[in-house]
Amino acid sequence: ELPVFTTAADMRAWVRKQKKSGRKVALVPTMGYLHEGHLSLVKAAKEKADVVVASIYVNPTQFAAHEDFDVYPRNPAEDRDKLAAAGCHAVFEPDSLYVSVPGADGESSNVVGRESGHPGSHETFVTVERLQRPLCGGSRPHFFRGVCTVVTKLFHICEPDVAVFGRKDYQQWRVICRMVRDLDFPVEVVGMPICREPDGLAMSSRNARLSPESRERALCISRGLAWAEKAVAEGAVSEPADVAAQLRGRIEEAGGTVDYVELLHAHHLSPISDLTSQPVLLAVAAHFPARDRGT
Ligand code: PAJ
Repeated sequence: ELPVFTTAADMRAWVRKQKKSGRKVALVPTMGYLHEGHLSLVKAAKEKADVVVASIYVNPTQFAAHEDFDVYPRNPAEDRDKLAAAGCHAVFEPDSLYVSVPGADGESSNVVGRESGHPGSHETFVTVERLQRPLCGGSRPHFFRGVCTVVTKLFHICEPDVAVFGRKDYQQWRVICRMVRDLDFPVEVVGMPICREPDGLAMSSRNARLSPESRERALCISRGLAWAEKAVAEGAVSEPADVAAQLRGRIEEAGGTVDYVELLHAHHLSPISDLTSQPVLLAVAAHFPARDRGT
């Protein structure tokens, strides 16, 4: 039976016991509603370590007040079954990782990302200053601070030797790598390729919220990326700005609202002036209408 831990103390005790027995521990942090993409990380983790811990925690500090925290899809029972089937060894599923603050009406709140500001609430954060700014940092200024802070807490609680992330969230992976290097975490960070549906859509828990029509329209992203790769390889487009403009056009034509389409240096996430003299990242974020409210 797959052990499920809900407190930091129980989780840490289990990990320490594993390590005492000489086992190498890997951590796969997630927000649940698991799909094959997440499970590919568990599989990779098994190759890197003797025991694999997966965490399931919808982290309030990485959602802004107007974002989809309340409607983020959740299905813990099914997640546990999937993790057991994937050969995971333990699950960390805390109720909250933040101090609860009694509000004026007596209700407790842990909405750190929405800056409760109550005395006694969480006030220590981890920030990767420069790398957090481009791409997702543009429209979500507190996002990576929330991610880094919760990943720091998960690292301190689970004490992994290896931590596995997906390159679907490319900037997140780079930011965590940088945090680990800058703050001397004794963790090896691994980044795994994007898992896609047979038709090319990148797997994502949030895909469950797309309307059937949006689900179809969103294919313009993977198709657009494939187009860009080919066009650049064949020399049909040579300016980074042209690639971005054409890809943006394709997504908008399909009814998407573009957050960003950018070509950056793949390691520094800094602007580039040409497509040949360095590794290039082409990153896209776009919204398509949801089945219910919001996007
Ligand atoms: P979540 O979106 O649940 O993703 C958990 C991990 O799965 C991340 O490393 C993400 O990059 C990876 N992942 C998601 N879809 C993938 C796909 N199609 N192919 C490969 N990997 C994929 O990312 C988070 O949660 C949170 O920010 C977290 C790191 C848990 C911190 O709260």
